[in-house]
Amino acid sequence: MTTDTTGTAARDGEARRGGPADSPFVRACRREPGPHTPVWFMRQAGRSLPEYREIRANVPMLESCRRPELVTEITLQPVRRHGVDAAILFSDIVVPVAAAGIDLDIVPGTGPVVAEPVRTAADVERINPIGRDDVSYVDEAVRLLVAEMGDTPLIGFAGAPFTLASYLVEGGPSRTHAKTKALMYGDPELWHALCTRLADVTLAFLRVQVDAGVSAVQLFDSWAGALSEADYRRYVQPHSAYVLAGLADAGVPRIHFGVGTAELLGAMGEAGADVVGVDWRTPLDVATRRIGPDKAVQGNLDPAVLLAPWPVVEAAVRRILDEGRAAPGHVFNLGHGVLPETDPEVLTRVVALVHELSARPTA
Ligand code: CP3
Repeated sequence: MTTDTTGTAARDGEARRGGPADSPFVRACRREPGPHTPVWFMRQAGRSLPEYREIRANVPMLESCRRPELVTEITLQPVRRHGVDAAILFSDIVVPVAAAGIDLDIVPGTGPVVAEPVRTAADVERINPIGRDDVSYVDEAVRLLVAEMGDTPLIGFAGAPFTLASYLVEGGPSRTHAKTKALMYGDPELWHALCTRLADVTLAFLRVQVDAGVSAVQLFDSWAGALSEADYRRYVQPHSAYVLAGLADAGVPRIHFGVGTAELLGAMGEAGADVVGVDWRTPLDVATRRIGPDKAVQGNLDPAVLLAPWPVVEAAVRRILDEGRAAPGHVFNLGHGVLPETDPEVLTRVVALVHELSARPTA
């Protein structure tokens, strides 16, 4: 699938190392030149695909995350169909929290729902540390995928402490994150105790994935954009930094992503990312000035643009590739996840267009 690595190595005058570490995706994360701008989509494995809806028809979400063969098949579906440059492990950010002993479910159309929200010191004590044995199905799924995928990289992921804390404290999805903020501002000691526990769970979960062979990791702090930069730096960044620093020796790129984070891009990069994910609100050239020259960027097509006629999509893809040239490395992606109503054929066309427009001569 990614035969392009040969051309890259030849042009750079290196011996071909091959494998996912030499793929266009990993090279862009490392700010190294490659044969084209790599592209993948957050939530590429999911409800936009009929083959996904079919295979998930009678299996609840959390259960599907715990069946390695099913995880492998769902993870590979978008790679086969779209020819994306990377796969992302099919799982969910609450999978490790459930493994840590918190009773929760993922309700279709709603998201994670926690049976007993976490709001006191005694509640925080209910979050147990996790190790490989608690998420052996993830270890197994990653190993199956890596064996199957050859040169195509697999991205591992986890939720960052703030976003996980929001689900645990609110008990489910929230627009305002009011209860989370009330705890954060009202009892900073308890807040930090909660985030310390979650950071350990997150780091352990990512370690299992790295040890099993993922080629990159993405730390999702989807809801961090709800905070001011000052509050982000005070209440959140130290915990995300702990997770990212804990992977510094892993040798894989660390992507850090959130939504509505225009004011936080610099601080999120400083948390220890190699690549900063950017939503559609900030052009990539502006984002790269905020993030600095030592990090790649990932993004940032508005997922809703994919619902517009093709000429609109094409113009947006061209603009994003142009803006991305200001960055020292660019991984093309959406600004947030694929919407379920997206026509998968449009996704396939976007992949081909990104590859075509960004192809660099290899001779
Ligand atoms: O393709 C991929 O990106 C990999 C799979 C993936 C899922 N969840 C599968 C999933 C990833 C990376 C996630 C991460 C995740 N989960 C995040 C961070 C990314 C983001 O979107 O900001 C968050 C906030 C969650 C929590 C969560 N889980 C939500 C908000 C939902 C959607 C609820 C709904 O039904 O609208 C889920 C459920 C979920 N996770 C689905 C999938 C494919 C849909 C469940 C289904 O198909 O039945």
